[in-house]
Amino acid sequence: MRLTICNDYQDMSQKAAAEFIELLKEKPDCTLGLATGSSPIGLYQNLIKAVQDGAVSFAKVKTYNLDEYVGLTADHDQSYAYFMRQNLFDHVDIPAGNTDIPSGSAPDTAAECRRYTAALAAIPGGQDIQLIGIGNNGHIGFNEPDVALSADTHEVTLSPSTIEANARFFASVAEVPKSAVTMGMRGILAAKKIVLVATGSGKAAILKQALYGPITTQVPASLLQLHPNVVIFADRDAAAEL
Ligand code: GLP
Repeated sequence: MRLTICNDYQDMSQKAAAEFIELLKEKPDCTLGLATGSSPIGLYQNLIKAVQDGAVSFAKVKTYNLDEYVGLTADHDQSYAYFMRQNLFDHVDIPAGNTDIPSGSAPDTAAECRRYTAALAAIPGGQDIQLIGIGNNGHIGFNEPDVALSADTHEVTLSPSTIEANARFFASVAEVPKSAVTMGMRGILAAKKIVLVATGSGKAAILKQALYGPITTQVPASLLQLHPNVVIFADRDAAAEL
C-alpha cells in the first residue's frame, strides 16, 4: 500500500491523475475502471487537460464503471452514465463503444449483472487501474457494509446512511434510488492496481479504519488491505487520523 498525503483537493487530483497519465503513455490501449462521486471530478479534469494538451489519448482505452443507480436511465442527470459523460467522456477522444457502465434501467437487472460480471472477467489480467472513492460508511462502489459481501456484480439495497449522503444531489431524499447495481468485490480486487482518492474531514475516520483497522465486511474498503497494489491519495483533511 502506498499512501500519498496531498495538500488539498487540487493537489490530490493532480497527483492521482499522474498515475493515469503515466499508464496512458505507457499503454495507450489500457483498460480503466472508473468511479463517480465528488472525489474523482478533479482527477478527471486533469485527464481532460492532458488529452487537450495532446499528452495522452483515450482513442484505444476501454473503461468500466463501478456502479449505477437502479431505476435511473442513462439520460437522468443523476445517473452515473450521465455523470461520466459530463465529467469525462464528452471531453476526451474515447469511442462511445469503449465505455461500459452497468445499466440501472435494464428490463432484467439480474441478467444485466451477469452480463457485466462476464465483461469484467473477460478483461485480460484485470483492469490496469481501478479508481475508487470511499463512502462515509466504508463502501466501495456500492458494496455496502454487511455480514457478507458479494464477489460478482449484483443489485444492492443502499444503506440509509448512503441514501442520506447522496441526497445532496437530488431534489429530496425521497428521490434517491433505493438500490444500485455494483461491481462486486472480485471485480474491484481483480484490478492490477487500485487508486483510491479521499478528500475532506468527513472521510478521516473511515479512511483510518479501512487502511489500518481489522479486515471486515462491515468496512468493505478494509478488503483493500488484501490487494498487493493499492495507491492512496488523500488530502490533509482525509488523512488527519492516519
Ligand atoms: C457513491 C459512489 C461511490 C463513491 C462514494 C463517495 O456512493 N457509489 O463510488 O466513492 O459515493 O462519494 P464522494 O466522492 O462524493 O464522497
